[in-house]
Amino acid sequence: KGAVLADDSYGGWHIFGYTEAQTALRNHTHFSSERFRNSGNMTNPRPSILNLDPPRHTQLRSLVNTAFTPKAIRHWSTRIQEIVDELLNSISINNETGETIDLVSTLAYPLPVIVIAEMMGIPAKDREKFKRWSDVLVEGPSSLTPEIIMDLMQRKQVAREEMRHYFYDVLTKSQHPEHSLIAILLEANLEREKLTAEELISFCILLLAAGNETTTNLITNFWRCMLQYPQALEDLQHDHSLVPSAIEETLRYYSPVQATSRIVTEDIEFYGVEMKSGDHVTIWLAAANRDSSIFTNPDTFDIYRSPNHHLAFGHGIHFCLGAPLARLEAEIAIHTMLQRFSSFQAVPAEWEPIISGFVFGLYSYPMK
Ligand code: HEM
Repeated sequence: KGAVLADDSYGGWHIFGYTEAQTALRNHTHFSSERFRNSGNMTNPRPSILNLDPPRHTQLRSLVNTAFTPKAIRHWSTRIQEIVDELLNSISINNETGETIDLVSTLAYPLPVIVIAEMMGIPAKDREKFKRWSDVLVEGPSSLTPEIIMDLMQRKQVAREEMRHYFYDVLTKSQHPEHSLIAILLEANLEREKLTAEELISFCILLLAAGNETTTNLITNFWRCMLQYPQALEDLQHDHSLVPSAIEETLRYYSPVQATSRIVTEDIEFYGVEMKSGDHVTIWLAAANRDSSIFTNPDTFDIYRSPNHHLAFGHGIHFCLGAPLARLEAEIAIHTMLQRFSSFQAVPAEWEPIISGFVFGLYSYPMK
């Protein structure tokens, strides 16, 4: 139950408490995101904002910040609704026939990739490629044997290289739709910041990968909660205005990103423990989100919970850039499902959980 624990197996630390997690995430001077800084020859020549500290982090993040504010994201509502409708039109849930549909492959999985690809200005014909690459990049090992881990690392490397080549071509050769994220980055590059080609490409890859599996899992985890808490589903069916708070509670209860990590930059005393420069720190957002000193009955899913200041999107300067987009996509998807399907049932026996310490979700979620 300790809030901060040493992990002798790899000489690092684990943070579980809410206040402790928040403090570490806020203190980017002592807890660096440059995770490759002390790892010998494993230096990362192509960092994205997720792996950068200020001042470069601030400079690069500010390039796309305005495209991701809640106000800017609301402009996408109509288009997101169209995509959700299109995806749902392809299926029908019929309780009589007992036929099942998979929530993940039908809706939760394609929705975020279509939306971000459109925001970036990527042609529709290339979407499939993107989904494939971004899936490999976020995939966890199916078991912890050295062969499986090596195989996964190699596949990630191949996916990264293929994506780099693709983006290199896109960034150097094609025309870009006005106001697309790629056009914004290129314009900023020419006018103000001198982004290296690698920085530009890493930015594109991060935008594409960061929001896909996470948003997919948010939508799936929501329906998983509905199955476990039928009263919540009944309340939502009567009052759709509860959808946003039910989404926040899903983020807290089944956090799609379970943890993040930092590197200690200089020796520091942190809540009674001595951390050394170079120590690796895993910050368990999901544990912080169940901290009983902050959340009453933390293990209960409560769509009326207020306030609900969970850490599912992180905290501090690296707070999730895509949070307004993820919330909007989930809201429109769930709202539309509630409207269209007055009754449906999940088939829990056929759930396939994602095997990963850091990602919480399901590979498939059959419904009928
Ligand atoms: C950062 C979670 C959706 C883009 C983060 C972080 C978390 C997170 C925990 C902070 C990591 C850290 O501090 O080390 C989530 C969850 C999502 C989601 C749970 C969905 C439910 C998205 C979407 C996008 C996105 C849709 C964009 C299209 C980013 C980016 C960062 C980030 C660019 C890095 C921000 C920075 O370093 O300044 N996300 N994310 N995320 N997220 Fe998300």
